[in-house]
Amino acid sequence: MEVTNVTEYQAIAKEKLPKMVYDYYASGAEDQWTLEENRNAFSRILFRPRILIDVSKIDMTTTILGFKVSMPILIAPTAMQKMAHPDGEYATARAASAAGTIMTLSSWATSSVEEVASTGPGIRFFQLYVYKDRNVVAQLVRRAERAGFKAIALTVDTPRLGRREADIKNRFTLPPFLTLKNFEGLDLGKMDEANDSGLASYVAGQIDRTLSWKDVKWLQTITTMPILVKGVITAEDTRLAIQAGAAGIIVSNHGARQLDYVPATISALEEVVKAAQGRVPVFLDGGVRRGTDVFKALALGASGIFIGRPVVFSLAAEGETGVRKVLQMLREEFELTMALSGCTSLKEITRDHIVTEWDAPRARPAPRL
Ligand code: FNR
Repeated sequence: MEVTNVTEYQAIAKEKLPKMVYDYYASGAEDQWTLEENRNAFSRILFRPRILIDVSKIDMTTTILGFKVSMPILIAPTAMQKMAHPDGEYATARAASAAGTIMTLSSWATSSVEEVASTGPGIRFFQLYVYKDRNVVAQLVRRAERAGFKAIALTVDTPRLGRREADIKNRFTLPPFLTLKNFEGLDLGKMDEANDSGLASYVAGQIDRTLSWKDVKWLQTITTMPILVKGVITAEDTRLAIQAGAAGIIVSNHGARQLDYVPATISALEEVVKAAQGRVPVFLDGGVRRGTDVFKALALGASGIFIGRPVVFSLAAEGETGVRKVLQMLREEFELTMALSGCTSLKEITRDHIVTEWDAPRARPAPRL
């Protein structure tokens, strides 16, 4: 059957993938309340479309940290993509560059920064997990920079791994024929089997729980790449991130995989945008599955959005073709949303094009009884 929207890839991936792999991709933390809420919150935001505007030409292009992209739809870092498809991160990199957009490569990719760079030209960001051994971090950041990566997305919501119960039940671990390629030479590329989630044990062993704002400053002493702080959901942390030198903020709850019962990212976005006061761009990820979701995020002040699971699910279904199709479907849906809302360029998308449940009720004449 023809796939006509991004969500449909999830069911196909579920059929195709081993249960351990599918569960790892799909799961959220604990009760998975935030996982559902990331989607549900979008459905509580409604449109206030404008009519009779010439929408015969629609321009979706924008610049992200100075880099021109064809649309504000970018690819979030998701780990271990070769579990989904043998081409893994290569396929994602090629699909992103064919679509004229940006891929973020995970620290825990099953392809190295050099391998992904070798797929050809493309604007790429590198997602960083900070290891206890700072030499490992410094080396990796240098390698990413040398391989032509343009920015660091520093993940700040993972001092420990969230409790993902499916991974615990499945004793999740990286299949033996794969490695975390960026760490292969450093003897950190394998994940041991553990009595719970192998990834949770790996994180407990290697990732630096002491990470703090001073490390954001330290990172700037070892690289000239701009730093996006990924995992901010409050105004307080937005201000601190900007003070610490962040070039941008990604409002993210890690696809609901870390702390359960945090709000949906689309619900937290406006607070962050207000606190940022236009000093740095604000991005969002979490639950974006439709062009209408992209529009809602932009109307609330985001400069762009990132997608996570749709990439791994479409990879599992159809490899590079699948990822291309996901980007194409979102592009077309977003363009249609712009047209039907009366917007011909991104700057025409305003807060007045949507209404949220936290907006004051608009003054209406009292009904005559
Ligand atoms: C992730 N995410 C993630 N984030 C990160 O900073 N480094 C990583 O290695 C990973 N790995 C990862 C694997 C999988 C399978 C998922 C689903 C997520 C989080 C990711 O970057 C992003 O925040 C969310 O995926 C966005 O939510 P959606 O689009 O998946 O709903």
